[in-house]
Formats: sequence, structure tokens, C-alpha cells
Amino acid sequence: RLEKIWLIFGISMLVLFLTVVGVGAFALGMEPPGDHRHTVNPDTLSTTPPFDKPGLHQIGDKEYEAILVAFAFGYNPDKLEIPAGSKVRFQLTSSDVVHGFQVNGTTINLMAVPGEVNHFSYTFDKPGEYLVLCNEYCGAAHEVMMMKIIVK
Ligand code: CUA
Repeated sequence: RLEKIWLIFGISMLVLFLTVVGVGAFALGMEPPGDHRHTVNPDTLSTTPPFDKPGLHQIGDKEYEAILVAFAFGYNPDKLEIPAGSKVRFQLTSSDVVHGFQVNGTTINLMAVPGEVNHFSYTFDKPGEYLVLCNEYCGAAHEVMMMKIIVK
């Protein structure tokens, strides 16, 4: 008698657990593309917003979005020109292996991971040329993988 109650309790808990996991997975799958997206298929980047349009896009007054795709051995685009005093929201991914994205002279230090989107916001107050380097070993030409951010 008691065993039966425990069995029913156990099965109920299992069903509840699976329901929670299932609903959670479904909610993740339903996430809209764009700002809330944290995963992306690295094989279809060229047709998947926002990575179908890499570069700097104005989204407000002194506010920009920088869409960047890292690859062996460079970045698309390889140069960003940012008006001084602008807040830039970076969205970064990789089309092949894991790369780094370290902007010298700033606190920006991101990883570019295939299949994932990493975000970071930074306000560029000081004009100048900022060198961006890959700081994750990614192959033969890792040492020369870089891009430029020009703030003026
Ligand atoms: Cu890319 Cu190291």
C-alpha cells in the first residue's frame, strides 16, 4: 500500500520534472532573433540577422551596435569608425573556431565562440586608434589576427 503511494509520488515528480525541462527548452527555442539571441548557427551566419550585416549600425543618439564575425584569421569588418563619445553595443560570434577580441586601451575582452553570441557595451570617450587582437590561440596565423577601431 505504502509502496504504491511512493511509486505514484515518484512518477508524478518525474512527470513534473520533464514538463519543466520541456517547457524551458520550448521557451528557449521560441526566443526571438536579434538582441535576445544567444545562440546562432555558424554555418548560416551570412543569412542570419544580425550577422548578415556585419559592421557599425546606429541605434540611437550616440548609440551604436557593432556586429562582428571573427574567422581564421581576421574579423568582419576589419575596421570600425566610431564617433567619440558613442556607446557601442558589441555582438560577436565566430564562423569557425574560438577566437579572442581584446581591444587595447579598453576593458573590452571578449571571446568569439562559434554557435554563441557574446555581448558587451562600451562607451568610447577618448579619440584614437585602438588595436584589436585575437588572444585565443586559433591556428597558424593567430599572431597576425587583428582589426582596428578608430574613434574620432
Ligand atoms: Cu583568432 Cu587567435
